[in-house]
Amino acid sequence: VIDITSLYGRTGCFTYDPGFTSTASCESKITYIDGDKGVLLYRGYPIDQLAENTTFLETAYLLLYGELPTKEQYDAFTVRITRHTMLHEQMNRFFSGFRRDAHPMAIMVGIVGALSAFYHDSLNIRDPWQREMASIRMIAKMPTIAAMAYKYSIGQPFIYPKNDLDYSANFMRMCFAVPCEDYPIDPVLTRAMRRIFILHADHEQNASTSTVRLAGSSGANPFACISAGIACLWGPAHGGANEAALMMLEEIGSVDRIPEYVKRAKDKDDPFRLMGFGHRVYKNYDPRAKIMQKTCHEVLGAVGLKDDPILKVAMELEKIALSDEYFIEKKLYPNIDFYSGITLKALGFPTEMFTVLFALARTVGWIAQWKEMVEDPSQRIGRPRQLYTGATERPFVPMGDR
Ligand code: ACO
Repeated sequence: VIDITSLYGRTGCFTYDPGFTSTASCESKITYIDGDKGVLLYRGYPIDQLAENTTFLETAYLLLYGELPTKEQYDAFTVRITRHTMLHEQMNRFFSGFRRDAHPMAIMVGIVGALSAFYHDSLNIRDPWQREMASIRMIAKMPTIAAMAYKYSIGQPFIYPKNDLDYSANFMRMCFAVPCEDYPIDPVLTRAMRRIFILHADHEQNASTSTVRLAGSSGANPFACISAGIACLWGPAHGGANEAALMMLEEIGSVDRIPEYVKRAKDKDDPFRLMGFGHRVYKNYDPRAKIMQKTCHEVLGAVGLKDDPILKVAMELEKIALSDEYFIEKKLYPNIDFYSGITLKALGFPTEMFTVLFALARTVGWIAQWKEMVEDPSQRIGRPRQLYTGATERPFVPMGDR
């Protein structure tokens, strides 16, 4: 807490909290985290129970509307979503404007932002129907956009949505099917995809969600707000960590090299960190990481990679780190990203797609949080203050006298 009297000539106090480690930016009823106990609840339901027992759209309904749907509500919601899975044909031209080797996250930022130019009927966010339409469209179109970004990056034709498939199966088909060939749905891989989506669907006021809320607090178009969230998620300290974790495991390469990397992670003069370890909020095992670890074993088993050397490195690294004084003292446990990279690779996704999948799933959380914010009658524009440490007032100096 800073006394601002000398700074601004007014009495009062500011809290100065870099990184917002202990400042609540809003009230929310959506997601609860107890970082010390390793608990994550969506609307009161434990994440492991949702990951095991619900479809992604069931969880999406819960996050958006606050309750698990009845059968009738679920069916109606599914119909509403599947009606909007297609993109306007004109959007294809946006894709073809990108370099063919563009990062799919860059494409996602652009395409989702461009949706704000397509849906003028989503501009009045005070209208509940427009809010609902924007939410449905965003959740429905995200898998199509993500799959198109992937297909574009590998030069294959786009595969259109198949709406009688479940959300996760439809997405995998749009990514991996090729025209004129059957695409068999593998139940183990589809279940893994569904779990990954559910685990990533929301995580209270993380950096990208706070970005969506802050952008939305000015009344901005919801598609533009989600685009801002995608941009924030792209960073390696946030959504990019699963890619970094996999790269690190591949670099370590074999179990005998682990001690060298653990030593580096503890060396304060070395900027290296064990990627996939540590979390701002969890000072215990990330509950999502446990489900991710189980899912990783299932997927690797299903695709015949049970003896994958990278999985061996991951398991041994986890064992060594969890028994090391440094990691124990700093409460550094594996986070969700530690096993998700290996799993996504085994599912067939290239590393550039990892954060895209995260964005796809998190869109539900972003939309739910955005909706909660704009529906709150006490909502005001987000406007953080600063602790000014620059020059005090001084007279202007003409250029010739400087
Ligand atoms: N390896 C080694 N040391 C670490 C690690 C790590 N992965 N993470 C934190 N530490 C150390 C820090 O050096 C620091 O030590 P110090 O107290 O001696 O200075 C201490 O633990 C606390 O770390 P902070 O960086 O202050 O913690 P913060 O909450 O700011 O950062 C973060 C959390 C960014 C996740 C950090 O743990 C990290 O960089 N981890 C690796 C990247 C990663 O896995 N990110 C994914 C996060 S989950 C998600 O976004 C879905």
